[in-house]
Amino acid sequence: MQKYQKLLLANKAWAGEKLNLDPDYFTQLASDQKPEFLWIGCADSRVPADQVTGTQPGEIFVHRNVANMVVHTDMNMLSVLQYAVEVLNVKHILVVGHYNCGGVKASMSNKDYGLINKWLRNIKDVYNMHTDELEAITDENKRFDRLVELNVVEQVRNLVKTTIVQKAWATGDYPYIHGWVFNLHNGLIKSLIDVKPSDLSVIEDVYRFAFDEPKEVGVLGEVMLS
Ligand code: CO
Repeated sequence: MQKYQKLLLANKAWAGEKLNLDPDYFTQLASDQKPEFLWIGCADSRVPADQVTGTQPGEIFVHRNVANMVVHTDMNMLSVLQYAVEVLNVKHILVVGHYNCGGVKASMSNKDYGLINKWLRNIKDVYNMHTDELEAITDENKRFDRLVELNVVEQVRNLVKTTIVQKAWATGDYPYIHGWVFNLHNGLIKSLIDVKPSDLSVIEDVYRFAFDEPKEVGVLGEVMLS
């Protein structure tokens, strides 16, 4: 038997086990989802959102990409974020990085990796924002660990910069945003930053939107109207 076929066998066993414990398990699972959490994590196979948090199917809405990035032109991430915030009304967004992240490591090198260079560029920009702090760290592994942490914090700030989050805060009391880092050596998650709803102090003024003001018809508006 090939390895991928074992996955299908394991799936059957899992479904049977769930039914044994609770005959209504799949009726309930299929009825609706009401997750309270959105997890934005790394695609790394060693950081499964539900297993490391002891949560069950239905509890966490998940988006994963290389190095848990929040890139403001990424339609995939933005669509997940909008759905999670506006439809599912998640209470907490978790940005979860991890030490030993291959994406972060690759961003620190000068190597040409092809297409993924463009994605890694976003992490290189985080490095650039924190050059002074990072280059004061002489131990290369410690500098790597610190960039993993700073990257999480910057992605939390990137979430706050979105109109999706700011609009939700303008009209309600959620979501809270948390920056976490997972340690592969001991399985523990460390908390790096917590942002309460409507706390815009983590971003500069130029990123804040004023939703109650009438839309200005500036140069762009005139161009669009003409
Ligand atoms: Co990673």
